[in-house]
Amino acid sequence: MEFWVRETDEETLFKLVTGLIVPRPIGWVSTVSPEGVNNLAPFSFFNAVNDSPPVLMVSVSDRDDGTLKDTVKNILETGEFVLNVVSEDLVDKMVLTSEEFPPEVDEFEVAKLTPEPSKAVKPPRVKEAKAKLECKLLKHEKVYDTHLILGEAVLIEVEDGCLDPEGKVRYEELRPVGRLGGLYIRAFGEGVFEA
Ligand SMILES: Cc1cc2nc3c(=O)[nH]c(=O)nc-3n(C[C@H](O)[C@H](O)[C@H](O)COP(=O)(O)O)c2cc1C
Repeated sequence: MEFWVRETDEETLFKLVTGLIVPRPIGWVSTVSPEGVNNLAPFSFFNAVNDSPPVLMVSVSDRDDGTLKDTVKNILETGEFVLNVVSEDLVDKMVLTSEEFPPEVDEFEVAKLTPEPSKAVKPPRVKEAKAKLECKLLKHEKVYDTHLILGEAVLIEVEDGCLDPEGKVRYEELRPVGRLGGLYIRAFGEGVFEA
């Protein structure tokens, strides 16, 4: 089958893009508003752009009504965010944080997660996450109705036991989860599952 993009509806394009560009890692982004309200939400249009210095990209669409998601609003206003790695044991909580709550709602409280003070930036990290990258906003670009956020990591913290003596990630400990279309996929062990 072929799809000429100009003649293809949005839903079909969404299924094609999220179904074919796989697997996608999940960036679980914590931010804080200038008023001090914590925010946490997952994004799977997420990847690494550079390793030294580490530069990461997250792509966040506008809401259907054209307003900014809290994550983008907070990043543009404060210039800081944390990328928390989602491991298998945190999938259900991650899904809870993806609901569209109003800005005054702290998703750490909704999902019963612990906000842990970061060391280099103001937004808290997810204490329960086994790895976190504290980032400063490097660049923001609007791409159609999506915000391309490039962040430079200034501090990377990985839980003891998740790295081997050579500094390589031990996936049997980190157990990161990604997306395969609308499903989830384990990086270690038996692959695909629903959540
Ligand atoms: C696994 C997963 C991946 C997601 N990926 C994206 C994404 O790449 N871009 C996006 O705009 N929304 C994505 N979402 C939806 C956002 O998490 C959702 O809109 C959230 O409410 C945004 O929260 P905020 O307003 O606090 O920023 C994803 C949701 C889930 C569960």
